[in-house]
Amino acid sequence: MLGKVLFATDFSECTENGVAFLKRIKEVVEEVIVVYVVDEKEITRIATNIAWLGETTKEYEEELRKKLRERAEDEMKKLKEDLEKDFKVGTVVTEGHPAEEIVRIAESEDVSLIVVGSHGKSNLKSALIGSVSEDVVRKATKPVTVVRREASI
Ligand SMILES: Nc1ncnc2c1ncn2[C@@H]1O[C@H](COP(=O)(O)OP(=O)(O)OP(=O)(O)O)[C@@H](O)[C@H]1O
Ligand SMILES: [Mg+2]
Repeated sequence: MLGKVLFATDFSECTENGVAFLKRIKEVVEEVIVVYVVDEKEITRIATNIAWLGETTKEYEEELRKKLRERAEDEMKKLKEDLEKDFKVGTVVTEGHPAEEIVRIAESEDVSLIVVGSHGKSNLKSALIGSVSEDVVRKATKPVTVVRREASI
């Protein structure tokens, strides 16, 4: 048995392959913890550009933060409903540096496996894997499965 598995998603295309992989190994999975991290760096980047355009950022930044979180909660709800057909499911929506949060949660939840997609929202054709999945592989103390976007599951 694998016990708990952490599934990191940015709700991009690769999520589908990750879900398909989890369903293939469902017999050995006790619980799936789905994690989405609102990327702090993205918020700063958008807010910095807004400031550059001469707007005041404080209110905008708070609104942006709220909207991104709401959108993530909606996406998470849909994904949870799908996964609940096969697993006990826990969800985490948090803010920060995605890879750091994923690794931290994997440790605090004491999962036996982390599942990430090879690519995410940027989905660069030339990149072997994205920077978040690379960072998770580098920093995780738990085994990591990278599900390729090209995988047929
Ligand atoms: N914000 C996030 N929260 C949770 N998991 C994430 C997040 N961003 C990426 N991931 C995980 O990492 C995988 C690869 O995404 P990643 O962001 O590394 O690639 P990319 O978006 O194509 O490239 P980059 O972000 O480096 O420009 C995703 O399929 C997902 O499993
Ligand atoms: Mg990305």
